[in-house]
Amino acid sequence: MDYLPIFTKLENRPCLVIGGGEIALRKVHLLLKAGADVTVCSLAFHAKLLEKADAKQVKIIKGTFSDELLDNKWLVIAATSDKEVNQHIAECANSRQILVNVVDNPVLSSFIMPSIVDRSPIIVAISSGGKAPVLARLIRERLESLLPMHIGRLATISGEFRHQVKKTLKSVSLRRRYWEKLFGNGQLGQLLQRGQTDKAIALMTQSLTEEVAKGDVALVGAGPGDPSLLTLKALQLMQQADVVLYDRLVSSEILDLVRRDADLISVGKEAGNHEVEQSRTNEMLVEYALQGKKVVRLKGGDSFIFGRGGEELEELVASNIDFQVVPGITAASGCSAYAGIPLTHRDYAQSVTFVTGHRKQDGKQLDWKALAIKNQTLVVYMGLIQAEEIQQQLLHYGRGAETPVALINKGTTADQHVVIGKLDELSQLGGGLKGPTLIIIGEVVCLADKLSWFNPEQGHKLSRDPFLVNLA
Ligand SMILES: C[S@@+](CC[C@H](N)C(=O)[O-])C[C@H]1O[C@@H](n2cnc3c(N)ncnc32)[C@H](O)[C@@H]1O
Repeated sequence: MDYLPIFTKLENRPCLVIGGGEIALRKVHLLLKAGADVTVCSLAFHAKLLEKADAKQVKIIKGTFSDELLDNKWLVIAATSDKEVNQHIAECANSRQILVNVVDNPVLSSFIMPSIVDRSPIIVAISSGGKAPVLARLIRERLESLLPMHIGRLATISGEFRHQVKKTLKSVSLRRRYWEKLFGNGQLGQLLQRGQTDKAIALMTQSLTEEVAKGDVALVGAGPGDPSLLTLKALQLMQQADVVLYDRLVSSEILDLVRRDADLISVGKEAGNHEVEQSRTNEMLVEYALQGKKVVRLKGGDSFIFGRGGEELEELVASNIDFQVVPGITAASGCSAYAGIPLTHRDYAQSVTFVTGHRKQDGKQLDWKALAIKNQTLVVYMGLIQAEEIQQQLLHYGRGAETPVALINKGTTADQHVVIGKLDELSQLGGGLKGPTLIIIGEVVCLADKLSWFNPEQGHKLSRDPFLVNLA
């Protein structure tokens, strides 16, 4: 960047223009628009400059340039037709560190004047740094036709309205959303275009009232169980919620972190046993949001991984409800980390696949052949009931009987229980396990021996004997 674009405040600040012709007149005009206190020095003056002097808009000094004219000036424009005079002015101004522009001479100038599109208070400045003035002009012309005239008016009334918006909408994100919606509303522009400013202001006020009255939904992933795995954003939203609709998998420790006055509603799901039907959950989200509530939809793990988050959002979109999505740590990440089983490892697994053991009645079959390939890790969610089928299919398609498998029950919680075995005994390993269980199949499971660190009984951290670690 050859120049730093800045917008300078010149209101009531003394500025000097040397030269009295057409070009000087244009520069004076711009400086006056910015409210500058303008003095013009020249041997002769354009008639319009004389008019401005008569109207006391500018001071004029008839004569040649002298250094003392620079006293107290903020900014100087040399617009004479004499190159030597212009150069002298530039040298004097530079030696006093006063910003100087020499018309059509970027080399002598310490600032240049851009092409501008003026929709005050919106101003677009374009400069090619003196390299391609025609190109800059063409860009300006394009922008002139793109930016409607009423945009300045829009910016002005927005500025007047800002304080009220700030008072009404407490958070930055709410305010941002309000403004984005407002400026995206074509109706506002049309009103201003027709000069109906009162109606435009009424529309802004009405939108603000609606924004306050309208609730929204945050689809929040609560992670696999350990409350300290919640994201900061999840926690913030839980603390601001009016209503929280939560799943069975969300632990009571996590629910304890929800704002005390919020309504907690269980819509828990277990494969085949839905406490509240999904369609009813969807309806409830919409109903509460339409009541103006801040709704948090809290789901175990991550909402977009076997969490039906997408289906709920589609319902919100259909009802025009605002929403946001906060990712959570999915069971595969949480459980594998807390069991010391890296899901990939350069020696054992170059890919990892997440599949669900529970599918829609008419759901598609899994591609067992692809899932049986060696050197990949298979993570099965909701797979306990289907353990026998998983075992048979993988063996049938060539996965080794000795392939290590891990069942992680209630992973990351104080009740975490890990069972490790081989693929040909998978269907036997889960007997007696209750609660959420994740199955990890693949060579990486053997690393648990060496890498497990989480001991729920002893308050998380497992103290390891370095001698045993080396033997493992
Ligand atoms: C309906 S899926 C929800 C998955 C969730 N959206 C996620 O990203 O983790 C439920 C399944 O996730 C797995 N799961 C979730 N939390 C778990 C945990 N703490 N320990 C073990 N498995 C868990 C189990 O396989 C459980 O049956």
